[in-house]
Amino acid sequence: MIISSPGDYREAARRKLPPFLFQYIDGGAYAETTLGHNVTDWHDVLLRQRVLRDMSDLSLETKLFDETLKLPIVLAPVGLTGMYARRGDVQAARAAASRGVPFTMSTMSICSIEEVAPVIDRPIWFQLYVLRDRGFMRHVLDRAKAAGVKTLVFTVDLPVPGARYRDAHSGMSGPNTGLRRMLQAVTHPAWAWDVGLNGAPHTLGNISAYMGKPTGLADFMGWIGQNFDPSIAWKDLQWIRDVWDGPIIIKGILDPDDARDAVAFGADGIVVSNHGGRQLDGVLSTARALPGIAEAVKGDLTILIDSGIRNGLDVVRALALGADAVMLGRAFVYALAAGGQAGVANLLDLFEKEMRVAMTLTGARTIADIGPDVLVRTKGQE
Ligand code: FNR
Repeated sequence: MIISSPGDYREAARRKLPPFLFQYIDGGAYAETTLGHNVTDWHDVLLRQRVLRDMSDLSLETKLFDETLKLPIVLAPVGLTGMYARRGDVQAARAAASRGVPFTMSTMSICSIEEVAPVIDRPIWFQLYVLRDRGFMRHVLDRAKAAGVKTLVFTVDLPVPGARYRDAHSGMSGPNTGLRRMLQAVTHPAWAWDVGLNGAPHTLGNISAYMGKPTGLADFMGWIGQNFDPSIAWKDLQWIRDVWDGPIIIKGILDPDDARDAVAFGADGIVVSNHGGRQLDGVLSTARALPGIAEAVKGDLTILIDSGIRNGLDVVRALALGADAVMLGRAFVYALAAGGQAGVANLLDLFEKEMRVAMTLTGARTIADIGPDVLVRTKGQE
């Protein structure tokens, strides 16, 4: 399949992956209303075209937490990344590093921190979910620190799993199903070979000791429901602040009041996110949530955003509405599934090209120039 645009990778991934995995990546919660709005609401953010301003010299570099990024893009934490391509976490991390942007490893990754961190020459970011056993989480944080991780992304919008009906239909979750059984029944030998399954189910590299190796991936979402902690509250975060001396980013903020609480807690950054429409359906798209959040906390901490960002124009739109950088979820995962490391590197190149066109035609020479001036108005605000 010919890849010309970032969006082409979705179809390429669909052709490559076993259906239950593609549906797991592609799907959202409940009726998937928010999932749809996440994508389409970016289209309503209108760019203001400017011309004849000598745009021959652009810079897309930016700085986040003393780290230089060649593009204002970070790869989002995505669980099971190592099942979308062989040692997928390693391939994605290599692609990110080759394009000068950070890779965030999920708590639920297939490869371990120790496997991925040493293969690239910039620190990986690490995403933390809090399991009920805080002692074990402390142990995971110690491992991340020992592997050179500085930036911690603490995801707060999954105290319980959202109802993802596509997973129930595909057999990925629910009674008498489960990921392991799915893997054993895989009918895509080429894919199984590509990811290196060789008949043996993968385990989750960072938490397999906790899950118990024999259990492995028996019932992925069921296990999450039992072991993630719905009692988590701001006051419980203090222990993380106490043990972690690097930047802490709170991921899953969708409301200005929660953003203010993140500032009060002492967070270094937030990710404005609805988890890609995978948690509570019916909530605001991030394109619509961002302006209010930026108004509340811009300048107090670093604002990242994800959900529905599918191309370089969306990145410019997000920065114009107040974000400092974006995270890519599905966009990079589709590219990884379709083309491995080279696919993700090419995706980032396509994003860069699209950003350059958008910056040239909106008169923004640097990332800092991308502000309200590059927008006409957003729909609903006329
Ligand atoms: C995710 N996301 C996620 N987030 C997180 O903090 N830890 C995780 O393990 C995962 N796992 C995960 C798996 C899959 C398959 C997807 C698609 C997403 C959410 C992710 O970090 C990000 O918030 C969304 O993907 C952003 O939305 P888009 O860009 O996918 O629309």
